[in-house]
Amino acid sequence: MDLILRNASLPDGRTGVDIAVRAGRIAEVAPRIAAGGAEEIDAAGRLVTPPFVDSHFHLDATLSLGLPRLNRSGTLLEGIALWSELKPLLTPEAVAERALAYCDWAVARGILAIRAHVDVCDDRLVGVEALLGVRRSVAPYLDLQLVAFPQDGLYRSPNARENLLRALALGVEVVGGIPHFERTREEGARSVRELCGIAAERGLRIDMHCDENDDPLSRHIETLALETRRLGLGGRVTGSHLTSMHSMDNAYAAKLIPLIRDCGVSVIANPLINITIQGRNDTYPRRRGMTRVPELLEAGVPVAFGQDCTLDPWYSLGSGDMLEVAHMGIHVAQMTSPEAVHQAFVAVTETPARIMGLEGYGLSPGCNADLVLLDATTPAEAIRLRAPRLAVVRRGKVVSRAAPSRCELSLPGRPASVDFRLPARSAPPRS
Ligand code: FE2
Repeated sequence: MDLILRNASLPDGRTGVDIAVRAGRIAEVAPRIAAGGAEEIDAAGRLVTPPFVDSHFHLDATLSLGLPRLNRSGTLLEGIALWSELKPLLTPEAVAERALAYCDWAVARGILAIRAHVDVCDDRLVGVEALLGVRRSVAPYLDLQLVAFPQDGLYRSPNARENLLRALALGVEVVGGIPHFERTREEGARSVRELCGIAAERGLRIDMHCDENDDPLSRHIETLALETRRLGLGGRVTGSHLTSMHSMDNAYAAKLIPLIRDCGVSVIANPLINITIQGRNDTYPRRRGMTRVPELLEAGVPVAFGQDCTLDPWYSLGSGDMLEVAHMGIHVAQMTSPEAVHQAFVAVTETPARIMGLEGYGLSPGCNADLVLLDATTPAEAIRLRAPRLAVVRRGKVVSRAAPSRCELSLPGRPASVDFRLPARSAPPRS
């Protein structure tokens, strides 16, 4: 074997498991594998998981915080306006450099796949050119999937439709949209229909920014679901954000959620961004703004959590950490039961992998040997501690290592160091 991880705990609760890797794939997962490995890693009971997947990110804007100025209101609309000021100043080299730097962060945090929305409302297609190059550069260690995203509106921005088609022709593989930002509700609905048609003709996936506002009557998700059904696109379509659902009447939401499920539409919520951008026009009570994650999950809709933004016109924080994203998602949606915490972990691993259509993802024999060793023993502990990613493995090769986080203490009568992991003797029963 090329590599064996010994004595791992897995996200499904199995413990004492060895994972053997050969030729970039998982060859065997079993207790105490007899074969030796050219390289062996002792997990010592720690959690080994398939990599984190960020299915909603803006890689063309990342790390541009403060260029050319800061977003003072904190709103989505000022963020879009600010991005429009920056766009003419962008160069492919600068965009690629920032994107590559972010990809380094992502890999170090155990993210090995990102779906990135790239703005096509720029006749130069600077972001598209830059990120197509970045996609090629990072391919050995990171799966980058690009979405043609008409940030300023398919109809509202003069050449958006033509630019979007140019981006697809250049190799961008997913069709995006932003119906709530078109001039009217009718134009928004028409943009959904046209974009779904463009995707259907080309056999592409769809991921639209949809209803990212606090308006309970913003209902483009309904059109997206129906077009998905009409064109037979079920399983390939995602509604991102859907924050208006937070403010909808319960009676309408009760009808909408089964429609989303029955039409085969997946959902991506972005907790860090939704909690900071929505509710900005409220006094008190101030809405949280995130879509109805527990209710969608309960109905059987695939729901992922995305990072969305890091150090850009919309968000001045972030570090590419999907455990931070899951942590915030748990708080915003009050997903505190053991089952719900586990669902939050799945929402940054398996579910986004499925939404992106990643092949060979998982921990079964035959899957890609893409693995993350965390300084925690369970998914819940990993989220609670935003645990260091001690080793990140891509196709059987270690591509990142980190030291455990420990503190030295100088307290009378107390141990010399502190370990934030729960002592085994007081671990709560597994659900
Ligand atoms: Fe976004």
